[in-house]
Amino acid sequence: MTTTARAYPNIALIKYWGKADEELMLPAAGSLSMTLDIYPTVTSVRRNNNDADTMIFNGRPATDRELARAVRLLDVLREIATERGLPQAGTWHVDIATRNAAPTGAGMASSASGFAALAVAAAAEFGLELSPAELSRLARRGSGSAARSIVGGVALWHAGTDAQSYAEPVSAPEMRMISVVVSRKHKKITSREAMRITAATSPYYAGWVETTQEMLPAAVQACADGDFTRLGELAEMSALRMHAAIMACEPPIHYLEPVSWEIIALAGELRENGIPVYATADAGPNVVLITTPTYAEEVAQAAQNLGTVSISGPGPAAQVLPASASLFGGEGEKHE
Ligand code: DP6
Repeated sequence: MTTTARAYPNIALIKYWGKADEELMLPAAGSLSMTLDIYPTVTSVRRNNNDADTMIFNGRPATDRELARAVRLLDVLREIATERGLPQAGTWHVDIATRNAAPTGAGMASSASGFAALAVAAAAEFGLELSPAELSRLARRGSGSAARSIVGGVALWHAGTDAQSYAEPVSAPEMRMISVVVSRKHKKITSREAMRITAATSPYYAGWVETTQEMLPAAVQACADGDFTRLGELAEMSALRMHAAIMACEPPIHYLEPVSWEIIALAGELRENGIPVYATADAGPNVVLITTPTYAEEVAQAAQNLGTVSISGPGPAAQVLPASASLFGGEGEKHE
């Protein structure tokens, strides 16, 4: 049998940066994001009769590091399956084929959609019916932000214990995100590594965690109130405070480039002209502009000289696709 699932990336409004527990992938603070409706990852999982897992990534064999991260998530799933009365599941292994429409490693959160799709496909391939909260907790073990890509629309990922730390949907004002991709280069330092360095060396790390704990409930309240302006203000502050903590590392880490700052400044200029738009950026030079549906086109036009723009709205939850979507052809992965 083969199971195929699709998940979309998400962009955080209140950022996740730092872990309370690396093994369990528990965040130091909660976060809030919107799942996008562009750049999905499609992942097929099929049980094999071997004693190892294999993975094809965008049509080529996965690197050892990519495979090791997938295996870690599968190990958690094998444990869950064993606990749920499938004593043989500890020895089950799978072939994975995964395709990602996003520029991997360039700050467009491809690991979030990737691990969310893997969690959904692998759990179904094992015959387990996991709830959305359980799938979110499983996806979290692959990549923290993947916990949020299980959820459609706006997702609140809770900090806390293993049992408490999953993402759930919250209702929010209608938003559009305009991603301005300025570079497809691989980032030099992964989020995971940079989070460790920030926690270990940034004098602002404690302040960052504290302010996130304060901003998160305020952002959730702004969502409930349908208050886009307040939510946007908090989102931009969260991104800038995260980058401030990162820049203060020893040695310093710079994700934002001169053009990134130009885009952030553009958001401020547009606001002065009465356009509700706020900027955010993850662990890379790309910037995402957050606005309301009315202004999406205008904002995209204003940014188009600064990078490759794409507009996205709220995307769907991660889900299993019909058998016809399988990435496995007769032999190995289908080549398009
Ligand atoms: C800047 O989820 O990629 O995008 O949990 O170590 O896999 P790991 O990190 P990851 O970090 C995302 C960081 C961020 C902010 C965010 O998405 O909240």
